[in-house]
Amino acid sequence: MKKILEIITEEIAAAFKAAGYDEKYAKVTLSNRPDLCEYQCNGAMAAAKEYHKAPIQIAEGVVKALIDSKILLDVQAVTPGFINLKVSADFLSEYLNKMSEDNRLGYEKAKAPKTMMIDYGGPNVAKPLHVGHLRSAIIGESVKRIARFAGHHVIGDVHLGDWGLQMGLIILELKGRKPELPYFDPDYQGAYPEEAPFTIAELEEIYPTASAKSKKEEAYKEAAMQATFELQQGRAGYQALLKHILQVSVSDLKKNYKKLQVDFDLWKGESDAQPYIPEMVEAMKEKGLAYESEGALVVDIKEESDTKEIPPCMLLKSDGASLYTTTDLATIVERMKLYHPDEIVYVVDKRQEMHFIQVFRCARKCGLVEPDTKLTFLGFGTMNGKDGRPFKTREGGVMRLEYLLSDINEEMLKKVKNSRPMAEEEAVDVAKVVGLSAVKYGDLSNQASKDYIFDVDRFTSSEGNTGPYILYTIVRIKSILKKYEETGGCADGALIRAFENENEKALMLLLTRFNSVMETAYEELAPHKVCAYIYEIANAFNKFYHETTILGTEDETLKKSRIQLLVLSKRVLETCIELLGFEAPERM
Ligand code: ARG
Repeated sequence: MKKILEIITEEIAAAFKAAGYDEKYAKVTLSNRPDLCEYQCNGAMAAAKEYHKAPIQIAEGVVKALIDSKILLDVQAVTPGFINLKVSADFLSEYLNKMSEDNRLGYEKAKAPKTMMIDYGGPNVAKPLHVGHLRSAIIGESVKRIARFAGHHVIGDVHLGDWGLQMGLIILELKGRKPELPYFDPDYQGAYPEEAPFTIAELEEIYPTASAKSKKEEAYKEAAMQATFELQQGRAGYQALLKHILQVSVSDLKKNYKKLQVDFDLWKGESDAQPYIPEMVEAMKEKGLAYESEGALVVDIKEESDTKEIPPCMLLKSDGASLYTTTDLATIVERMKLYHPDEIVYVVDKRQEMHFIQVFRCARKCGLVEPDTKLTFLGFGTMNGKDGRPFKTREGGVMRLEYLLSDINEEMLKKVKNSRPMAEEEAVDVAKVVGLSAVKYGDLSNQASKDYIFDVDRFTSSEGNTGPYILYTIVRIKSILKKYEETGGCADGALIRAFENENEKALMLLLTRFNSVMETAYEELAPHKVCAYIYEIANAFNKFYHETTILGTEDETLKKSRIQLLVLSKRVLETCIELLGFEAPERM
């Protein structure tokens, strides 16, 4: 369906033309004075220059041409030359009825679908998920859903961190504990065991132990670096251990992401990109782009317009070891080869921005991507505690994701039990569903690039701009609809009638913005725009609800019309929260 602003713009364009002016001046926007009008056109001001007339004169001419409009009512020219617009009640309800009939609520699919890869999550294997990874998972999941809803072919890749020093540390520590295992015997020729020689609980203990040791003992650290190097050179026993570490770690990660309703299409990692490195580096050398500098292999990526120093991109260290940058470049090579994306979006902590500037520039300069392949860095800010510093546990350690979620669920459970009596089991389930909305909405309602304060009290409150408030509104609609059905009501096929009061009209106007909000949220990769939209709808709906009789309406067709408006509001809200990555319970 055409967006409502497009329809109005066409109407105004016709009026400009009829009044003898160029249509290009007919740009319509949402009004910045909602007390006076709903939409406005300021084109008369710009047209005044071309036609050497007073803007108000032009505005009046356009207004005159709109006298018979079926879409616009009460159009006014206001000094110095604004055109204030209001839509007619019939046009508004007609638009909503068309939305109701459409299974995409009037939002058209992209005409030229793109293949988009979203690189998000980015957990490091064998290290527990911490809150830093939470934002990437939440934002990336929502961006993926928004892009998919827009009609694009979207591939979400978790891009595991499975190629760093942490692997060498684990191997070394394990070797100290169980030296008899065949993985450590360089002459071993047989097949390695199927089963991993550790559980996830052991693995999660091994890494921090080894990491602490390496900080104290220089020799231990060097041995770990050596093990990492040998792993990277392909030592068979270590490769087999890597497989075990991955298996155990990934099945645990999958469990955690499932709880978050985060779902990846690909479970690839840094290690998958390694085979592409030698050829990639060779080609860069051959093209004369990569050269040796102080023993390391680098590519210059400075550009004339740079206002700050952009250091060269390092590909190989003097000992031949590859780096984080090398891996990301090789991952681009792999992705282009296997999936041919038109765009790759990286949802990563904004403190890694310089790394991605280097990777993107180097990829372009060396022709790893097509000239029109878009590389997008969606950097997010830090999640802080109430003290304004990066979120920590009460003891001051790094907060693990599970603890954070259980804190939220505990607080939510208290609130749920206080709201109405219900069985323990139901309360636990409801608290989980609502708790997830608290965490996700608390995060997504902020512009991604900004830091924000994680405030359990505020996020779990059912009042204010929170996930639980949105869910309360949806549950309220569900309960009215249920009551209506239980008393034998059926509004199938009924039409939404013209509004009767200002609150109803305000709700209707908001609903018509659905397709335009979806489009902006996709274009700007901005879930916070979806949050802001549903917060406005929830407010408008609750106002309408408090001042309007719904089930007690005497006039049957009016009652049905109101029920239909509720159904449409619910569909819009539910579609939006699905794009944010959470859902509403039946009751709260
Ligand atoms: N594993 C990385 C970290 O924990 C994040 C990975 C981000 N994605 C990427 N392609 N570099 O910091």
